[in-house]
Amino acid sequence: MENGKEGRQATSVNTPEAEKVDFSELMRRKLAEMPRRSPEELAAIEAKRAEKEKDDIRREIVRKLSILKKDVGARLDPFKRATVDTFEVYDPEQEKTLRRVREYIDDIETNVAAGNGAFLIGPPGTGKDHLAVAIAREAVIRLGASARWLDVATLRSDLRDSIKSSKAEKRTLGPYLKTDVLILSDPIPPGSGGLSDFQADALFRLIDGRWRELRPTLITANFRSEEEAEGVLGSQVVDRLSHGGLRLRCQWASFRRRGDHGGDS
Ligand SMILES: Nc1ncnc2c1ncn2[C@@H]1O[C@H](COP(=O)(O)OP(=O)(O)OP(=O)(O)O)[C@@H](O)[C@H]1O
Ligand SMILES: [Mg+2]
Repeated sequence: MENGKEGRQATSVNTPEAEKVDFSELMRRKLAEMPRRSPEELAAIEAKRAEKEKDDIRREIVRKLSILKKDVGARLDPFKRATVDTFEVYDPEQEKTLRRVREYIDDIETNVAAGNGAFLIGPPGTGKDHLAVAIAREAVIRLGASARWLDVATLRSDLRDSIKSSKAEKRTLGPYLKTDVLILSDPIPPGSGGLSDFQADALFRLIDGRWRELRPTLITANFRSEEEAEGVLGSQVVDRLSHGGLRLRCQWASFRRRGDHGGDS
């Protein structure tokens, strides 16, 4: 069309000229020009579209689980190893804990939307990370959430590298602040001598930032009690972690040594 103004006038439905146009006749002609499809063809097109949509969702879930797998390593593979179904029960306490984890998962949409996290404490090898990964995995599969796992030893060295500027620190913490679900593993690794003031500050900013944005954080740690956790992490951190979330004490023999306690290792 040479004159854009005229073009617009010609198609405006508010002009007297437009009122004379028989739109229903135009529509009828347009429809007649369209290729005719049988109900079977239309159903096949719809099925193909739905299949492609499912494929896209599947691919996205695999991508997100692969990111989590890269973080946690093969031993806690969220595709097949660290799931609620592969968690073996060899102590009655585990039964109770597993039930609470399953309840959280049954209501995972509400829990994730509310920013409800989990705080798992207990001795080494009791499957704390296994359960945390199992929860994160379900959030990815059921909600399409993104999930990351961070062991605090890595965080400490990342922060050491970025200590020079707050911009660099933001870059380091950014992905962990933004991910929908974050697992923080062993905030104070045993024998590490604790966190420096700077590292403790950064950890608090991470946990606080996520809590403010209603993003669940799951923490696994080698504490004997919540009191000990409060003493080391500070009550502000433990308070935020406990807000609406799961508190689980994994107080049973290590999976690695379960043979000593009648297991099948
Ligand atoms: N009840 C269980 N059933 C099946 N596998 C388990 C169980 N408990 C632990 N595991 C496996 O044992 C290994 C160690 O578990 P995990 O890393 O979760 O322990 P943790 O409590 O986080 O230990 P740590 O305090 O030493 O970090 C993982 O491969 C995990 O899958
Ligand atoms: Mg662990």
